[in-house]
Amino acid sequence: MAAIKLESCTFALFGALGDLALRKLFPALYQLDRAGLLHDDTRILALAREAGDPQRYLGSIEQALRLHVPAKELEEAALARFQARLHYLTMDFLQADDYQALAEVAGHDQLIAYFATPASVYGGICTNLAAVGLAERCRVVLEKPIGHDLASSRAVNDAVAQVFAENRVYRIDHYLGKETVQNLIALRFANSLFETQWNQNYISHVEITVAEKVGIEGRWGYFDQAGQLRDMIQNHLLQLLCLIAMDPPSDLSADSIRDEKVKVLKALEPISAEQLGQRVVRGQYVAGSSDGRTVPGYLEEENSNTQSDTETFVALRADIRNWRWAGVPFYLRTGKRMPQKLSQIVIHFKAPPHYIFAPEQRQLIGNKLIIRLQPDEGIALQVLTKDQGLDKGMQLRSGPLQLSFSDTYRSARIPDAYERLLLEVMRGNQNLFVRKDEIEYAWQWCDQLIAGWKQLGEAPKPYTAGSWGPMASVALITRDGRSWYGDL
Ligand code: BG6
Repeated sequence: MAAIKLESCTFALFGALGDLALRKLFPALYQLDRAGLLHDDTRILALAREAGDPQRYLGSIEQALRLHVPAKELEEAALARFQARLHYLTMDFLQADDYQALAEVAGHDQLIAYFATPASVYGGICTNLAAVGLAERCRVVLEKPIGHDLASSRAVNDAVAQVFAENRVYRIDHYLGKETVQNLIALRFANSLFETQWNQNYISHVEITVAEKVGIEGRWGYFDQAGQLRDMIQNHLLQLLCLIAMDPPSDLSADSIRDEKVKVLKALEPISAEQLGQRVVRGQYVAGSSDGRTVPGYLEEENSNTQSDTETFVALRADIRNWRWAGVPFYLRTGKRMPQKLSQIVIHFKAPPHYIFAPEQRQLIGNKLIIRLQPDEGIALQVLTKDQGLDKGMQLRSGPLQLSFSDTYRSARIPDAYERLLLEVMRGNQNLFVRKDEIEYAWQWCDQLIAGWKQLGEAPKPYTAGSWGPMASVALITRDGRSWYGDL
């Protein structure tokens, strides 16, 4: 990161004692400070409803930093400087009177209001900020989930829009802050090599896998209302799909990029209830094992409701109705309690038009571009070469041309997605944030899947914790004569 200091600002974190704030946001702010990026006068206001001695809550924040920042990056001097910026304020976010105290401590700097709270209070916070005159110099950052479906997300966005114009609203999808996701833009649009091949003439299909090893981790209440489609596909996986499928933007401005992404979302083919059986698989994990220990099923997790039919796994085939992608399926899959944490995109190129090698090696044919988002961020291009040795004849071998970010740029640490996103909010750059219409088109597409599931009334298919999902997910792709890459 270039050590160009930002303008001074007041960063007001609503929901400062919540899991996201403690696990991700404070550590990210600390890292920005440690990298020398925060202005000396920047202050961080931790806002939460818990009353009592502020020192106690500041102590919880320090504990969280000690827990979540890697030990070698926790420098006592940097920590002390960071703590000196922190102030704790007790507030009821829906109580207009409580905003007077905030207005007094906020001073006259640029204000950044980060809402790490349920979306149901976003509108109320905006109105209250405006009532004490804080809205004019404020940018607001909205965490996901923004709503539960198209109608509820519109209601939240409209309530925020009563106070803030779109150019002051930063909707987070933390996948957009990940190093390799950023790199998708560079890979596609800084190299002419790929762009000429990036269409239905050369690409046969695309896979996007976002697998998590963890289960529900004490978040049952939230997750059970959402499910994997709303929690992961509606946002992270559709954003990845957009970055792969979009046309080249005319420049790097936020709106040019977002206009192109919206075109992709609008071109997604709807999936009717009749097509669901062939195109979409819903799963729910049952007891199994993870890292060699027995783990409970979704319905046996702490605080669970044993009747729930919420899905913890989704695999689907998406099709994009446009000239570039006609006939190129995008297979998406994501689930909890998979064998490993893995996010990767695999672009499968078509086989050469005429095959001249040994028939039994035919399945090797077709280059693959593998973009690994996590872990071990990197890009590999699988190419076919001749196997070495006198006895090998013209035997083919598939091997990678590899760019591993951690090996190649060994000195540079890969920043957490939230560090980059917070930095961009402070810079006033909306590139990595999601515009209102993107969220709405994504909901529209997901809503029809949910409506179809409701109509059919089928329970999710069980899969064993620690496996790659229900067998139907394998059938989804083998039906088209393909398989999940490396399955992995
Ligand atoms: C969040 C989801 O948006 O992304 C979580 O709500 C999920 O359920 C998380 O675990 C995954 O993020 P990452 O960065 O760990 O892949």
